[in-house]
Amino acid sequence: MVPMNLYLEGRAVDVISTGSWTKKAIKEIKRVGDVSIIASSEESNFSYIPSDFSFNANASYTYITSNNTIAGTQWSDIPTTPTPLVADMSSDIFSREIDINKFGLIFAGAQKNIGPSGVTLVIIRKDLLKRSSENLGTMLNYNTHVDNQSLYNTPPTFGIYMMNLVFEWLEEKGGLNAIERINKEKAKKVYDCIDGNFYISPVEKESRSLMNVVFRIKNNDELEKKFIQEAETAGLSGLKGHRSVGGCRASIYNACPEESITELVTFMKDFEARHR
Ligand SMILES: Cc1ncc(COP(=O)(O)O)c(C=O)c1O
Repeated sequence: MVPMNLYLEGRAVDVISTGSWTKKAIKEIKRVGDVSIIASSEESNFSYIPSDFSFNANASYTYITSNNTIAGTQWSDIPTTPTPLVADMSSDIFSREIDINKFGLIFAGAQKNIGPSGVTLVIIRKDLLKRSSENLGTMLNYNTHVDNQSLYNTPPTFGIYMMNLVFEWLEEKGGLNAIERINKEKAKKVYDCIDGNFYISPVEKESRSLMNVVFRIKNNDELEKKFIQEAETAGLSGLKGHRSVGGCRASIYNACPEESITELVTFMKDFEARHR
């Protein structure tokens, strides 16, 4: 829906290519118009967030994925862009404080930090609503949803009810500032186990995600399989890396409690001691 609504004829979208979700977005933009990839980390399997690029002041908008769920990278500093910044924030929304003024549009699937799958949250700067063509299908036009307070069609009420409970929980925890501090502490504990001797991180230090800690066991695919199996038996599930990249991944979203991190780290240290 983003390119359909925001693309301006003849003005290529600036994209910083950081992984499979951005690649999918590029494919969709190309259905509507042109793309200018102003930086990419594909040559190194998306192991970092590029920092060397310059924006086109004439672009329709600039597109990023703020957290790369599969590659395990995250934008730590959100850039200031000359054109509206559009971010897929599906896997790190509400994990930290952000400067909302930097963005033209944010979208996020609910299923990581917001609530059950089936709801997508969209935040759009009001002036951008003027861009949508009246020829767009009704449901595909952001104006329809804004004009009808997101009630043009029957919304997924259970998911929205759950979102409200999650927001109340977040506020009780102290809000975004507090959850950011907790997320940083949680991620640090796991990254501290990955020192490069037994567990290795394919991700450059300054680009590491607070949400998805991607790691490998040095030169040993068989041991990785054993790690995932033994972890499962110990009650630590879901540590298998995304099927497209393999390896291991600890997804430690807002809902993952600090106690689970302590258990994971204890398990990782014990596994290392037994197999190094
Ligand atoms: C960053 C990002 N964007 C998009 C998606 C796709 O979400 P959905 O499965 O709701 O289409 C995901 C799913 O993991 C994601 O992590």
